[in-house]
Amino acid sequence: MKVLILFAHPAFERSRVHSRLINAAKQQPGVTLRDLYEVYPDFDVHPDTEQQILQKHDVIIFQHPLYWYSGPALLKQWMDLVLEHGWAYGKEGVALKGKYMLQVISTGGNEHAYSPEGHHGHPVKQFMLPFEQSAKLCNMEYLSPFVVHGTNQLTELQLDEYAERYATLLQTLQADRLDLQKARQISELNNLIALPPIISK
Ligand SMILES: Cc1cc2nc3c(=O)[nH]c(=O)nc-3n(C[C@H](O)[C@H](O)[C@H](O)COP(=O)(O)O)c2cc1C
Repeated sequence: MKVLILFAHPAFERSRVHSRLINAAKQQPGVTLRDLYEVYPDFDVHPDTEQQILQKHDVIIFQHPLYWYSGPALLKQWMDLVLEHGWAYGKEGVALKGKYMLQVISTGGNEHAYSPEGHHGHPVKQFMLPFEQSAKLCNMEYLSPFVVHGTNQLTELQLDEYAERYATLLQTLQADRLDLQKARQISELNNLIALPPIISK
């Protein structure tokens, strides 16, 4: 399957997490990486260009830090302008039908904070409901997110592990080897992706 990463991070130069993940993604042959803040610093998103790129891919990944329980603003702008009626949704809007959509998200809050007893009260996936339903409206299958939790507390080794896991996820998607049945039952894809032995503890 052809994988497209739509990356949105307004402060990439200060990033600890996504800089690693992006490095891992860049090393995956055949994966298309599109850095939205680099391409559209003025938020002037071109729907035609984006739609043409989307049509050439089977898996659409939104990769971004969690900002106010959602994505950074340019990602919303991208959705507002690109997912047009009659193209992405509506009676004639079937351009994205059958494609997969998933999010690769980093969160300041740790895993416990995103539990019913935790500070944020809900799992990350629940906060992503607008993305999930938007994907469904566009006839795509929404896959549970891959989440890097507790970004401030992560050690260098843990960051490397997440990057390895992300690389493995990308390879699994490209090879169309993701266990969809299992993926539909879990709230985060993280645990479906086995760590490569060299880094696994
Ligand atoms: C404007 C802003 C909003 C944020 N909102 C959240 C949030 O809602 N929940 C959360 O867990 N972390 C939040 N964070 C923390 C970021 O998600 C975290 O710093 C980021 O994922 C780290 O990734 P990076 O090293 O690639 O920048 C926010 C950070 C900023 C700057």
